Amino acid sequence: MLPRLIQGGMGVGVSGWQLAREVALLGQLGVVSGTALDTILIRRLGSGDPGGHMRRALAAFPDPQVSSRVLDRYLRVDPVGVADSLGAIDADADAGAGADASSPRYPLLPLPRARLTPDREWLLILANFVEVYLAKESHRGVVGINFLHKIQFPILPSLYGAMLAGVDVVLMGAGIPGDIPAVLDRLARHEPASITLDVLGAGDQRYDTSFDPGRLWEIEGPREVPAVHRPKFLAIVSSATLARALVKKAPGGIDGFVVEAPIAGGHNAPPRGVQQLSRDGEPIYGVRDDADLGQMADLGLPFWLAGGYASREKFRAALATGAHGIQVGTVFAFCEESGLDPTLRHRFLAGVLRGETSVFTDPAASPTSFPFKVAALPGTLSEAAVYEERPRLCDLGYLRRAYRKPDGTVDYRCPAEPVDEYVRKGGKAEETVGRKCLCNGLVANIGLGQRRADGYEEPPLLTAGNDLACLKPFISAGRLSYHARDVVESLVSHA
Ligand SMILES: Cc1cc2nc3c(=O)[nH]c(=O)nc-3n(C[C@H](O)[C@H](O)[C@H](O)COP(=O)(O)O)c2cc1C
Repeated sequence: MLPRLIQGGMGVGVSGWQLAREVALLGQLGVVSGTALDTILIRRLGSGDPGGHMRRALAAFPDPQVSSRVLDRYLRVDPVGVADSLGAIDADADAGAGADASSPRYPLLPLPRARLTPDREWLLILANFVEVYLAKESHRGVVGINFLHKIQFPILPSLYGAMLAGVDVVLMGAGIPGDIPAVLDRLARHEPASITLDVLGAGDQRYDTSFDPGRLWEIEGPREVPAVHRPKFLAIVSSATLARALVKKAPGGIDGFVVEAPIAGGHNAPPRGVQQLSRDGEPIYGVRDDADLGQMADLGLPFWLAGGYASREKFRAALATGAHGIQVGTVFAFCEESGLDPTLRHRFLAGVLRGETSVFTDPAASPTSFPFKVAALPGTLSEAAVYEERPRLCDLGYLRRAYRKPDGTVDYRCPAEPVDEYVRKGGKAEETVGRKCLCNGLVANIGLGQRRADGYEEPPLLTAGNDLACLKPFISAGRLSYHARDVVESLVSHA
């Protein structure tokens, strides 16, 4: 049976390997975020791989040739002035011009698409392998990886990479992940897997994205393919109805559920029915949005409650409902082992102490059109002026959606990309209003933000749950730092 406390999977890179490893060492379920790990890996390498962790994990990858290719291409031993040396790496990168020596400009990968090149598949496999390998290194604790079902193109090689590193649990929300249990079964046998693509305007035409690990190993030449096991699968849901539908779709393939309430950090499920906004412009949630925990219990699978559960009292209350445990995010996001940039983290915590922070459930910010929690912090995209000043640019593209062109082929668009491009691709201008580039903002949160050719630095975009009071027991005026151990001990020893 899995631990009672799950440390929430927090993208992008907020729950990185250090946090997940620490939580797993403490006997709970440590979870790395699987989102955008390919970009994170090449940016860590582009920053010179401080501590040598990436190189250590890459050295453990079953195929050394694949790791050396990535190292040769992306590792910068002297990251100062890196921009000047990166111009040739990728045509999309446009790197080099106007660079100064202060902060690196990172190379860019081609934007993700339904059909990935073998190079990109290997990079995704490696990046997910690295994160899980480091989280699991030198202990026997339990480690999971979290994905958003909406980010479909990288999902199959990413799962496979995590499985090569022995990931124990896959957690997935932001969508209806009924297709994933069968994928895990197939990948555990190194068999080809595919999932149906969600293509706007597809009508009756079916599109898919597929991945064949066997073919990929063959390209590298004959070698012994390492054995992998099928991880457990936890679906992240907001209602018992969805949980029941998933059990029906994938009988025996789901090992439990995380039931996320609308006050949880990150993305939230939209309210049921027609969306209504409060005077401040936040979606209004009502009792209909509370998951029916009696029905959850009737499904006979373990479930964990998420969203505002980071206290002993709430933990006990959760257990009393029949839950197996809780999943906690915000309080881990601001601890020392979190991937969040330390300056951002401490500035936010100082604001919490002064009572100046707030969290806004923004119905428009996310290109996914799911509500997204934006934490207010000066100098970040939570501020209207910072948002207005950012010239729109889509150069990471994880949240692009596939759409069907009149000729039946597929192209991609994101409502946070430049408006004219979005409209040229058949999108409606009104869908772009208030959209924020989560890709760049979230990568900037972990200190790996891009500096563009003209010197513009991508600003961060913080997210947190509504329950900020959970942070207060861990901080004081003279001490804005606490550890994952403090959190786990405060919750578990008393539960
Ligand atoms: C900074 C941050 C990033 C998050 N990112 C993700 C994510 O990428 N995927 C996901 O399923 N949940 C994400 N979450 C939600 C957490 O996994 C967890 O369910 C939630 O934080 C629990 O509620 P709490 O914040 O009140 O503890 C995120 C939460 C935070 C605070």
